[in-house]
Amino acid sequence: MELNEPEGTLRLRGFSLEDHDAFHAIWGDPEVIWWGHDPDREASRARLERVIASRARRGQGIGFWAIVDESIDDPGTRIVGDVVLQPAPFARGDLEIGWHLRRGCWGRGYAVRSARLLVRHAFDRLRLARVVAAIVPTNERSIAVAQRLGMRIEGRVMHGGMQHDLWALHRDD
Ligand SMILES: CC(C)(COP(=O)(O)OP(=O)(O)OC[C@H]1O[C@@H](n2cnc3c(N)ncnc32)[C@H](O)[C@@H]1OP(=O)(O)O)[C@@H](O)C(=O)NCCC(=O)NCCS
Repeated sequence: MELNEPEGTLRLRGFSLEDHDAFHAIWGDPEVIWWGHDPDREASRARLERVIASRARRGQGIGFWAIVDESIDDPGTRIVGDVVLQPAPFARGDLEIGWHLRRGCWGRGYAVRSARLLVRHAFDRLRLARVVAAIVPTNERSIAVAQRLGMRIEGRVMHGGMQHDLWALHRDD
């Protein structure tokens, strides 16, 4: 399953094992995954295997998506990040949306553009009533993405031992 930007160059697709270099560039970087990055390639490879298996098991595009910018010449750097739609561990019955970009790919709209595609998938195809995100109040860039999507704070949750704001976007918003 793939999601394509109607007028742009972004494509969302599932990861494969061949994407390990790109996946490690995201999950092995403590500046991107500041709450528990993968310390070496072995760890990120094991995570990638879990990510692929879990998405296949769940179906319906629930899980991690690679963000691919088709306009980048070098095929080795076309994966600029990932977005995820998955059961929220902090909000029973909800799916959470999340985003991680390679460090050199911030500031170009990749997160919000990809999240918009995923939100459309969640609302139009999966018919979800809402999607949520847990964001620490100091994560200004992530908050800006949530705001650009039209999400609003609806509460507070503990997640990974840290206090997070619970952001939500409703299909009828
Ligand atoms: C959170 C994160 C994904 C946000 O990345 P980002 O690059 O700031 O967000 P976007 O890709 O949506 O880019 C927005 C920027 O691109 C600009 N932009 C350019 N073209 C754009 C377009 N077509 N649409 C929207 N914004 C665009 C915006 O003006 C904005 O600029 P600014 O940085 O000067 O404000 C990134 O900082 C990250 O990976 N952080 C680490 C992981 C993390 O914390 N994840 C969230 C956990 S809750």
